[in-house]
Amino acid sequence: MDGKRDDLWTISFEGLTPLREKTISTLLTVGNGRAGVRGYLPELCPGHDAGIFLAGFYDELPRPELDPDSFNPFLLSWSHMDLVPGYHREKCIVKCPDFLDCVWLCGEEVIDIHNARLLSLTRSLCIKNGLFTASMHWQTPSGKELMLFCERFADMSEENRIWVRYTIKPLNFSGDITYRSTINPNRKNSNISGIYKDAAGEEDQRYYRLYDVERTSLSEDGTLSMSVRGRVNGMKAGFTTTVFPKTPGVQKRVWRRDEETVFADTVLPVEQGAETSITRLSVFSLDSSSAPGLHASDGWESFNEAFEKSARVWEMLWEDSDVRIIGDDNAQLSIRHSLYHLLISACRSGDHVSVPAKGLSGEGYRGMVFWDTDIHMLPFYLYTQPKIARNLVRFRYNTLYGARKKAEDLDCRGACYPWETSVSGFEECEYFLKLWTHQLHVTVDAVYAMRQYLEATGDEDFLTECAEVFWETARFWLSKGRTENRRFGIPDASGPDELHLEVSNSAYINNLVAMNLELALKAKDTLQRKYPRRFSELLSKTGMSRAEFRKMRYCLKRINTKKNKEGLFEQFDGYFNLRDEIVFEDDPFIVPADTQTVKQADVLMLLYLLPDLVTREQLRVNWDYYEKRTTHTSSLSFGVHGILAARLGMMEKAVDYLNRSLGIDLFRDEANADDGAHMAAYGMNWSAVVFGFGGISFNQGKISVAPALPAGWNEIAFCLRYKKNKLSFRLRHEGVTVCCEESGSGKIAAVDIRGKTYFLHVGETICHNAAK
Ligand code: BGC
Repeated sequence: MDGKRDDLWTISFEGLTPLREKTISTLLTVGNGRAGVRGYLPELCPGHDAGIFLAGFYDELPRPELDPDSFNPFLLSWSHMDLVPGYHREKCIVKCPDFLDCVWLCGEEVIDIHNARLLSLTRSLCIKNGLFTASMHWQTPSGKELMLFCERFADMSEENRIWVRYTIKPLNFSGDITYRSTINPNRKNSNISGIYKDAAGEEDQRYYRLYDVERTSLSEDGTLSMSVRGRVNGMKAGFTTTVFPKTPGVQKRVWRRDEETVFADTVLPVEQGAETSITRLSVFSLDSSSAPGLHASDGWESFNEAFEKSARVWEMLWEDSDVRIIGDDNAQLSIRHSLYHLLISACRSGDHVSVPAKGLSGEGYRGMVFWDTDIHMLPFYLYTQPKIARNLVRFRYNTLYGARKKAEDLDCRGACYPWETSVSGFEECEYFLKLWTHQLHVTVDAVYAMRQYLEATGDEDFLTECAEVFWETARFWLSKGRTENRRFGIPDASGPDELHLEVSNSAYINNLVAMNLELALKAKDTLQRKYPRRFSELLSKTGMSRAEFRKMRYCLKRINTKKNKEGLFEQFDGYFNLRDEIVFEDDPFIVPADTQTVKQADVLMLLYLLPDLVTREQLRVNWDYYEKRTTHTSSLSFGVHGILAARLGMMEKAVDYLNRSLGIDLFRDEANADDGAHMAAYGMNWSAVVFGFGGISFNQGKISVAPALPAGWNEIAFCLRYKKNKLSFRLRHEGVTVCCEESGSGKIAAVDIRGKTYFLHVGETICHNAAK
């Protein structure tokens, strides 16, 4: 990234950077929770940097025939080989028809990267208001020079609208310029997924269009529309796009190349040195058989009016969600960029979708939703935008049927959440991979997210609903679990470390299962006591018996925690007996499962989630054991290490881990963001700053703060919403300032600063000096 960072709200790139174009396109994505538009430009785009994604629009992607003989030992250890033959499709987020596509013509000359010279290029994204801009200086083969300035935003106020405005300034000529708008029906998904090789052992990258065009239409005023239908699943989407001005001086011509391809030409008379603007409004709809209407009589706002409205929504979002870091500009920009992506990827207006691992910025991980959302992203939403958090936990509640189905597929009772899902709620992981049969921790993660939500919001309405989830998931663990030597544990289920899938008694799983059982029992007591009607409704709906509740209590008492006398957790049965060697998963000859190599925080993740399991000394014992055995070949790992290092007072390590996580896409390009942003890492960036360096924790209605700022940072400032209160924090080396900005419950907020408790009324501010 280069230049123009003075306001710490803008990221900018100068010129073309061929090897990084796809990542740049990811970083500059605009979105509003319903749609994500990658930061590509039709004038530059070779095709695959482009991408528009709608939250919830999925179909299926064909896969090349897999040849089991070409699997390396690692992939062999990951695969149910009997399920490989016949494997050929996967659920995938759809790369939509490109309803922003266009061609510029200067007379007969096409102005794009293939036909004209690009003399200069600057692309920027203003994180504060979601405005993408590009300034291009072009020269045509005949020597005509012009500036093209593009602005684009996804409307935060009217969520089905994307706006584009171009301003043209001819530098050495006057004449006509044509803006040819189209809806490109050929944006295709790529089948590449890293681990797949074709029969010849080559990565077999192909592109597939995941939809059929059902209808296109064009009207005299230059409005184009297209309706499409997912090829396999049949989900429908519609797109309409129109260009202003429609004044008499500006000529319009609409025409069709074939059934699928429609164009609208807007011919603009332009004058040397003078600026002329056009605006393009595009709207989309999902699950509807016709494209959304856009009629002149709708009285469209202008680009400016719409932008102002949208910017006001941004302002409100930032008011609660911004994190200010004074003293480290890179950290400041990176954290804002992370939070920006979290804000554009989560649907604010519905609970039918969740946030994919790559947000709405790319097709990586096929747009699937993992535990990343429940564990890594949720805290940011929960403590700054609790309504979004509610949508996300409700998504899990709404898809309980999918979890029931998966439990059934595993020959168990109850409900087990899918390792990967889209909107369907069903398991959509590659079915021959052992991930779907063994990465069962997502079930306790979804439950953990609900527990956090309930704790932070006190939303008892939701408790009456999610009690069903607590019971059904507890029931799953009872049917999956085994009692041996009077100890209860879970066989054949792994924690987050994907290098060891087929393991039993994972410390992560067993301890979180204990939490799950406890929640189920607590929910039973609360419902029975406070909501007897709902209690009996749920009993009859789930058929939960007294014997099952008794069994929950029995198993809870006997859970095998895997903790030894020193407080060290064994990651799973037999882990300490494995070869003590670190290998990387791309080593074609060694199966990391035979060694103690850990891919990402596993035991340490557990201790981050359930800190009360250990004393500080015991945390250190576990850190010393596992940190050096972890390869961090997942972007999910750095942030949690940063938080724990800060808790242990190892500031240098904490800063190092935080920097690896913060700059992961923006500065380091470490994990390759070609196919989308690393949303879990972005979520952990917020947690690392607020929980790690800010030392924030929550305890029985009280917020505790014990900051430990990195030496170079002068101040961290942020807001938290907790128990209907909104508090703003300014943390400095010299002291802490807290202000109670809102108190929804009319109650006094309790804040504990380094062991001293303060009670705050609305509007009250307290300052606590470090020396106190
Ligand atoms: C990690 C998982 C994660 C997934 C999606 C994998 O590499 O090991 O924990 O859920 O990526 O981000």
